[in-house]
Amino acid sequence: MSRLTQVLLATSNPGKVRELRARLASLHIDVLGLADVPLPPGGEVEETGTTYAANATLKAVGYGRAANLPTLADDSGLDVDALDGAPGVYSARFAGPGATDALNNALLLERLAGVTHRAARFRCVVALYLPPHLQLPDLPATLTTAGLTLAPPFDGALPGERLILSAGSTEGTILHDPHGDGGFGYDPLFLSHELHTSFAEASIEAKGAISHRGRALEPVERWLRSLG
Ligand code: IMP
Repeated sequence: MSRLTQVLLATSNPGKVRELRARLASLHIDVLGLADVPLPPGGEVEETGTTYAANATLKAVGYGRAANLPTLADDSGLDVDALDGAPGVYSARFAGPGATDALNNALLLERLAGVTHRAARFRCVVALYLPPHLQLPDLPATLTTAGLTLAPPFDGALPGERLILSAGSTEGTILHDPHGDGGFGYDPLFLSHELHTSFAEASIEAKGAISHRGRALEPVERWLRSLG
């Protein structure tokens, strides 16, 4: 394959797949999910990094190599000031391995009981892995136009493999009880400073316009669109 006609979304979180597919729908690129590609049994990539960038890279490279496809992964989480940045990269498993959103939200409220300073932000890093066989001769120039650059070679990079990283964040306050029933994760507890509602009360489009994930994705989408 020489043109970028397919992108694998390296996430099994249905909330993220919904958001990402909605955003990428207008690009003339086939968006595949992990269920659409043959992956080796037990090939799930462990998120062993301690930063969003490290985990996004692990997922994009791990699944991208296994499927031999351009692969988009994100790593994201909620940084709460009063908890010194927790739950952070551990947001998905704040209440323990495999924790449900309800358990994570309950623990967050418990940790913030009696706390008045409740500032927080969602952060996201998106990583796009490009396999060696992808021929994109004008890559650096098109990336610069989109406001992106190539990431430095990651540990163990093979010749011709390339990686693009992009970060985004969005500010808010942790509410005292859940508001709204849309979205996923900590959305019902996150009062967005820009929307003036919780993320769970916002439409997918309104959230996407100002969300950490939307902001990290925006230059990547601009670049994908420029490939026409
Ligand atoms: P990841 O799949 O390792 O990136 O984990 C992200 C976790 O952070 C999710 O399981 C949620 O708990 C939380 N999170 C990330 N983005 C959002 C969001 O947009 N809304 C609510 N929670 C989020």
